[in-house]
Amino acid sequence: MFDDKNFTKYLNRHEIDAAVQSIANRVNADYEGRQVLLVGVLKGAIVFMADLVRHLKIEHEVEFVRLSSYGKARTSSGTVTILKDIQADIRDKHVIIVEEIIDSGRTLKFLYERIKAAGPASVEIVTLLDKAAKRVVDTPVKYVGRVIDDQFLIGYGLDLEEHCRNLPDIYYLKYPN
Ligand code: IMP
Ligand code: MG
Repeated sequence: MFDDKNFTKYLNRHEIDAAVQSIANRVNADYEGRQVLLVGVLKGAIVFMADLVRHLKIEHEVEFVRLSSYGKARTSSGTVTILKDIQADIRDKHVIIVEEIIDSGRTLKFLYERIKAAGPASVEIVTLLDKAAKRVVDTPVKYVGRVIDDQFLIGYGLDLEEHCRNLPDIYYLKYPN
């Protein structure tokens, strides 16, 4: 229970770790010998990013961006603005955008196009979770940990009104409450 809402376990820490490891294996194989810049999307991606980098064997730098989020609503608003931008020069870097979950795809589409316009050597997207059926804009996601159903999830960086990001496992909101 949190905030009078009923949550049920969806993915445990071992399942999450297996998904993170399998993404890291692919990235390690694909980016060997390249100048890699990981760009994490604040705030939700912090936990995934922290685990992902510890599975990476390739050399890389880390940056973060913060985009406008859902706020207190549980569905995407449709407009995206930048609250905190990347500090590093991304030209000639192989950029990998790191997101914890994709829903409509609007947030990532916006960031992807913006990074691409800045002239990196390449840009790809990795997400731990993908609500693929919810996609409303076409976003090229190369690495996906798990394709999931449309459910509201919390834990492992995912928040319910800024709470519960610290939970080591992922839970879904059970309707009705
Ligand atoms: P999109 O632009 O609709 O793809 O929204 C993606 C962003 O919404 C993610 O970066 C998350 O921060 C947030 N989000 C999407 N689904 C969930 C969820 O189930 N729980 C918590 N946050 C979510
Ligand atoms: Mg969020």
